[in-house]
Amino acid sequence: MRHLLDTTDLSLKEIDDMIALAVDIINNKEKYAHICDGKKLATLFFEPSTRTRLSFEAAMMELGGNVLGFSEAASSSASKGESVEDTAVMVSCYADIIAMRHPLEGAPRVASFRSSVPIINAGDGGHSHPTQTLTDLLTIYREKGTFDNLTVGLCGDLKFGRTVHSLIKAMCRYKNVKFVLISPKELSVPDYIKSDVLDKSGNAYEEVETMEQAMDKLDILYMTRIQRERFFSEDEYLKHKDAFVLDLDKLRTAKRDLTIMHPLPRVNEIATEVDDDPRAKYFVQALNGKYIRMALIITLLKWGGALS
Ligand code: CP
Repeated sequence: MRHLLDTTDLSLKEIDDMIALAVDIINNKEKYAHICDGKKLATLFFEPSTRTRLSFEAAMMELGGNVLGFSEAASSSASKGESVEDTAVMVSCYADIIAMRHPLEGAPRVASFRSSVPIINAGDGGHSHPTQTLTDLLTIYREKGTFDNLTVGLCGDLKFGRTVHSLIKAMCRYKNVKFVLISPKELSVPDYIKSDVLDKSGNAYEEVETMEQAMDKLDILYMTRIQRERFFSEDEYLKHKDAFVLDLDKLRTAKRDLTIMHPLPRVNEIATEVDDDPRAKYFVQALNGKYIRMALIITLLKWGGALS
């Protein structure tokens, strides 16, 4: 049995296979409509979510399976003090696969030690969000047809933004990928991502403080929200809240085939006037999230022997 706790749990070949499966699902939906008949997905969300939880649930339903779970810690026995380990033991008696989001970094890993079914990390604190990364990779693949030779701009809260950390880890494994890290100094990519991931892989990267410094070089612009819930004080959040706002004026120097992505939810960081620009792909990206999660559920259930 395998879990998905971090993007690096998957080899490049496994990611390629999962993306190929997602593309086949997109093109042949009826072929997969009953593949999970009789199977159950539990969504254990100790933190708020719209896209991740609902796309997991839609994914399982479109595969013919059922879903159960909770959408906030307050409606689970965690509010009475039950541990993550005990919750995992219990829920693995009721479901064939579990997607868990938790504010504590490493909580899904702790759950995996005691679970008898696959655990999927649906976001743990500021650490990692591997299914968002698979979503992002499927989007890049569908838009660009390759992962190699791309210049990727990551903009916003690069310190607390777990989707950014996971995406850097994943994209570093492809050929000649360059990164432009766009953030205020206080919200720059954590040192461990620079030393353990970027420096180790040898991928070129530069850090800048304005979008204008980077815009004309980028093949991908990945915008992120300032993560209000992870700041120690409201004043600190307010200082950075509108640090970056992408609008049509800022796109004047951008490439015609730029792909604009955002894991969503957005707050102010992309003006709604950008939504109709053909380069805006963030809503397509959210739809891709359902297809890649369908592929992931099938793959993990097959690896665990629950599907043939
Ligand atoms: N992208 C993402 O994780 O969105 P939610 O927080 O709505 O799940």
